[in-house]
Amino acid sequence: MNTEQIIHTFVEYFEERGHRRITGSTLLPPPGDPVLFTTSGMHPLTPYLEGRPHPLGRRLVNVQRCLRTTDLEEVGDATHLTVFEMLGTWSLGDYEGSLSLDWGFKLLTEGLGVDPGLLHATVFAGDDRTGPDTASQQVWQDLGVPVELTVEDNWWSNGPVGPCGPDSEIFLWSGNTPPRSTPTRDHRWVEVWNHVMMRHRRLEDGSLVPLPQRNVDTGLGVERLAALLQGKSSVFDCDVFDPWRRTVPDLWPLDEPSLRLVYDHVRSAVVVLGDGVRPANTGRGYVPRRLLRRVLTTLWRDDPSRSLGDLPGELFSHTLDHFRQDADPSDVRRLLLGEERRFGRLLERGSQVLARPRFRRTLTDEDFHYLHDTHGLPRDLVISLRQE
Ligand code: SER
Repeated sequence: MNTEQIIHTFVEYFEERGHRRITGSTLLPPPGDPVLFTTSGMHPLTPYLEGRPHPLGRRLVNVQRCLRTTDLEEVGDATHLTVFEMLGTWSLGDYEGSLSLDWGFKLLTEGLGVDPGLLHATVFAGDDRTGPDTASQQVWQDLGVPVELTVEDNWWSNGPVGPCGPDSEIFLWSGNTPPRSTPTRDHRWVEVWNHVMMRHRRLEDGSLVPLPQRNVDTGLGVERLAALLQGKSSVFDCDVFDPWRRTVPDLWPLDEPSLRLVYDHVRSAVVVLGDGVRPANTGRGYVPRRLLRRVLTTLWRDDPSRSLGDLPGELFSHTLDHFRQDADPSDVRRLLLGEERRFGRLLERGSQVLARPRFRRTLTDEDFHYLHDTHGLPRDLVISLRQE
């Protein structure tokens, strides 16, 4: 099943159960929101989880593109991407978490063909403030799905304050052997779907108060599920990356971790630019700049003649189409090349700065900060320039 089919099956399943689809579009949060980018499907819905009536009702479904730079260092492993799509469902004070879990199990097994024997769930064990989530535990027991109880891993919050609650996560076995152990003990259990019983609000002083309504907020990462359903061991092997894997390795013979970094970061930069962000030294614009500089640092380490201009236009149009973005692929390409030229000039200046006597010794953290803040030279770039 390809990504588009997964999205279609998911949305249709919940529409048949009374959910209305909301447009999960831009990465940019609504005006006045302090975060730079939308990091989860529920993020734009925060006011409605807190009780404001949603114009489309109490049952919602969507496909939301999300960006998480907190995971940047993890990009390249089998499950993390900077930009990804999240399928989400919400009960805004309507049905309870147990129904959501039951539907989740049926959609995965009957709708998407997952072998029930490859599922494991985790459930909140309770702590000194909130009791154990026995309702969710009961659902899994009735369905015959093994359950692991945890405390921190099964409490979801978007930040230090705001809506939060116990969650129940569904894991799918990705190993070549029959399933064994539990999600916290064996990383071959991959988390695919999180159901959050969003019924508390955390205040500044850390205390919890009940939200005006009992919500359910669920999120499922599309690329992760696609990879598993397609029998692939990493998100980079799912259909979304087909055009990348077909073209980039021939262009640039890089090792696998570097290829993954290139796929993820170029694709993410294209999507961010496609949403209208322009590269800059601060704020939102620093994200595409940083992503592209990491790519160029990787490419130029072996061969400084490599250029983002060598990438086939198909990669830009495929990515923008996939994310249903209207931006013109040639505009995006022009922006990438502008960034590349700018970074090239920065490197030239960097080499001159590093040639100064002050930097011809072991560099301290203070030196790295100075080089970064004053000359815009990232640490890994300084390190690779000094190795030349
Ligand atoms: N808020 C949960 C998450 O981001 C489910 O949407 O995982």
